[in-house]
Amino acid sequence: MTETPATDLKDQVRSYWDRQSCDTDQARSAKFSRAYFEEIERWRYREQPFIHAFAQFTRYHGKRVLEVGFGAGTDFIQWLRAGAQATGVDLTQEALDNLSHRIAVYGLPSPHSIRVADAENLPFDSDTFDLGYSFGVLHHTPRTERAVAELVRVVKPGGDFKIMLYNRRSLAVFNLWAKHALLRGRPWLGFRWALWNHMESIGTKGYTRRELRAMLGALPLQDLQIRTEATTIDQIAGPSVFRLLNPLHRFALRFSGNRLGFFHCIAASKRA
Ligand SMILES: C[S@@+](CC[C@H](N)C(=O)[O-])C[C@H]1O[C@@H](n2cnc3c(N)ncnc32)[C@H](O)[C@@H]1O
Repeated sequence: MTETPATDLKDQVRSYWDRQSCDTDQARSAKFSRAYFEEIERWRYREQPFIHAFAQFTRYHGKRVLEVGFGAGTDFIQWLRAGAQATGVDLTQEALDNLSHRIAVYGLPSPHSIRVADAENLPFDSDTFDLGYSFGVLHHTPRTERAVAELVRVVKPGGDFKIMLYNRRSLAVFNLWAKHALLRGRPWLGFRWALWNHMESIGTKGYTRRELRAMLGALPLQDLQIRTEATTIDQIAGPSVFRLLNPLHRFALRFSGNRLGFFHCIAASKRA
């Protein structure tokens, strides 16, 4: 599972996201039209309304924000709307094209800079940004720990750090495992395997809270908070009889206080 060299794996990750940026499959209108971007935005914040409480876009007016892995740029344009000095990187030209068109379509203020770059080697000086933000990105890159450490490195002491990473012990991963392992008579292929092989780009990972605390505890961070959120990804989708299990899923989510949700929203500040 981990035998592919990191460079080959990253090439596969890049080519996956270069084919289509995240959430753009939700749009029916012509690519890069205003209607296309509106459809993506409407879908995202209807499905994941907690992003606003997590990111707190308007708190960063006038502040230096770095977003790593901006994808189609739905969150990134919120930084611009909020008057932040926003810098962004993504591994793909496709994401850069989406974001550049999006900024032009809405006539938004120019970002400080947006470019293709790798989360594992950020092209910025240490202690630069008031906020380092990355939503649903760093679990896709082969060296996640390195990318997390890079984001912390470029945040100023006293600055904020906010990332979303997938939860391996979630209903979303259980559903993947049930579909691709259990129902195919090979339940020994575990949750890690299901995520790695069947969630978006190859090599996707997910973390337990304990693993997150171990990874982040080694970095100069304080006031760590992890809030786990559920979305429709935690439900069974499609025309399947297994959708009858969804009320059970909803009960499990409510009973666990969303601890079985797929999104770990992690916030901390960098130690001064
Ligand atoms: C699931 S999408 C998330 C995009 C956006 N943050 C959002 O929430 O819609 C993952 C994004 O991470 C980017 N990505 C993956 N590995 C990366 C890396 N090593 N450096 C920079 N971006 C990366 C991909 O190109 C893709 O745009």
